[in-house]
Amino acid sequence: MKDRFCRPAIASKVDDMVQYDVVFIGFPVWWYREPSIIDTFAESYDFAGKTIIPFATSGSSGIGDSGSNIGEPAKGAGVETGQRFKAKASAEELKTWAEQYM
Ligand SMILES: Cc1cc2nc3c(=O)[nH]c(=O)nc-3n(C[C@H](O)[C@H](O)[C@H](O)COP(=O)(O)O)c2cc1C
Repeated sequence: MKDRFCRPAIASKVDDMVQYDVVFIGFPVWWYREPSIIDTFAESYDFAGKTIIPFATSGSSGIGDSGSNIGEPAKGAGVETGQRFKAKASAEELKTWAEQYM
């Protein structure tokens, strides 16, 4: 996390990203931003023309610059501001929030 350009490897791959127009990317806030492995994910696919909706859990910090950070490696994507949730947010709370995009 000290190296802004570190890209930790991801063990698996999404089978067919082409089929998705809207992609939710969720992560815990680490030191006021997205973990570097999220940047690896954003760089791993062609997101051109897709919409990315970031969401994050944290102890207290907001989602900060995570959305614009993700937009850098996810070339051509439209990235929404996203939403921060408390660390123990329920699945129901996330579902209710996500439904606005359906
Ligand atoms: C390395 C690390 C850095 C963190 N940095 C922050 C932070 O900057 N702001 C904050 O509010 N919470 C921070 N947290 C707390 C996490 O955001 C919180 O534990 C997480 O959202 C809960 O999800 P989890 O149960 O999957 O860890 C940090 C946690 C870790 C492990």
